[in-house]
Amino acid sequence: MKKTKRIAWGITGSGHYLKESMQIIDELSDIDLFLSKAGEEVLKWYDYDLKEYKDRGVKIFKDITASSAPVSMLYEGVYKCLIVSPATSNTVAQMAFGFSDNLITNMFAQAGKCRIPSIVFACDTEPTVITQAPKKMVTLYPREIELDNFTKLKSFDDVEVVDNVDALKQAIRGIK
Ligand SMILES: Cc1cc2nc3c(=O)[nH]c(=O)nc-3n(C[C@H](O)[C@H](O)[C@H](O)COP(=O)(O)O)c2cc1C
Repeated sequence: MKKTKRIAWGITGSGHYLKESMQIIDELSDIDLFLSKAGEEVLKWYDYDLKEYKDRGVKIFKDITASSAPVSMLYEGVYKCLIVSPATSNTVAQMAFGFSDNLITNMFAQAGKCRIPSIVFACDTEPTVITQAPKKMVTLYPREIELDNFTKLKSFDDVEVVDNVDALKQAIRGIK
């Protein structure tokens, strides 16, 4: 019997739109989580318990190898799509300029080389961002460089870059 292809979901160290991303993850099946080092830390800051996800059968891959060994699953046809949500300014910048030196940026680069589609929820995309810090709401003013990197990433083939929750949900509905 043919195995259902899974979704690889990368979580980076962004508090902004973390809650919304986790709510969507909670509604999906056939999904594995890939965490950047900062993503793993930030999940703890916002009180997410990874054990709950493991108990539900979600596989969790942490950034613990220099070579990002889990990317090999992209070559084996395990995943139909990569979602990076939320994507920090750092990850967006690295991806936009072709860096691949951690688990998430390697997943993104290798997905691209395998022509597996990616969806990236870039969170710093407006001149003013009101976001939930661990203890209070804060207002941030993304710089021109963040907005430029977002624009650059949008020009990539096989990559859908979204900047709001509805667009993310719509992109997910379009996964084949
Ligand atoms: C509580 C907390 C919340 C953060 N939220 C954001 C955020 O919303 N956006 C962002 O770009 N960086 C945020 N950061 C900073 C990133 O975690 C940091 O830039 C990190 O190096 C990103 O690494 P990564 O892109 O590999 O996950 C936050 C850090 C902390 C401690």
